[in-house]
Amino acid sequence: MVGYERYKAMTAKRYDKKTIMHYLCRIPADRKLIPAVSQIENKKVLDVGLGTGSYTKLLLDKNTVVGVDQNPHLCQLPITVHKGDAAKLSALVEGEKFDIVLSTWMTDYLNTDQLQGFFTEAKAVLNNGGKLMTTVIATYGFGSFYVTIARLIRGVNKYTYSKKQIIEKLKDAGFTDIKTVSLNSWCFPWAYLAIAQ
Ligand SMILES: C[S@@+](CC[C@H](N)C(=O)[O-])C[C@H]1O[C@@H](n2cnc3c(N)ncnc32)[C@H](O)[C@@H]1O
Repeated sequence: MVGYERYKAMTAKRYDKKTIMHYLCRIPADRKLIPAVSQIENKKVLDVGLGTGSYTKLLLDKNTVVGVDQNPHLCQLPITVHKGDAAKLSALVEGEKFDIVLSTWMTDYLNTDQLQGFFTEAKAVLNNGGKLMTTVIATYGFGSFYVTIARLIRGVNKYTYSKKQIIEKLKDAGFTDIKTVSLNSWCFPWAYLAIAQ
């Protein structure tokens, strides 16, 4: 089973090739995710696990954006991308603080300890009143099917989390004001966006 290493030898062009899961899951989720990302203005944003930057692009005109990824070669946008782990953000950004930590379709690569590490580090690099916005693949509905397919067909180890688990982890990391927005796959529950302050 592999995790984020699956992208090591992948080119940006290959990464952006659309699969059936893109049409089944990402496109329907984008109906809510794209507006949520596009409304961010005049902020300093840390995009964690930005890949080729499909959502990062939406931020560039109106915000200052820095990226973090284990596979920074995927991103060809004119921004700084630190190579490293989501659970080590403060060391990577060397004391810089942000208004928003954004992460799209990355947390499914993190096991429970890594996810807790990411949330704790996100809190550490946020300014007072700053927000974490992260997508999570849900344990229920189409989410379990999605990770099972990833395991069986691609040999990729992926993780789902219930809203209850995520809220607990966010609270443990020091977030207090937490809400979730469902990102369904057509009519099936599949994923959600957690927004925490
Ligand atoms: C499915 S891609 C999502 C890319 C982009 N955010 C998007 O929505 O199109 C997952 C990205 O997360 C990165 N990634 C996975 N685990 C990571 C970790 N622990 N720390 C930093 N980046 C990670 C991978 O290298 C990959 O670029």
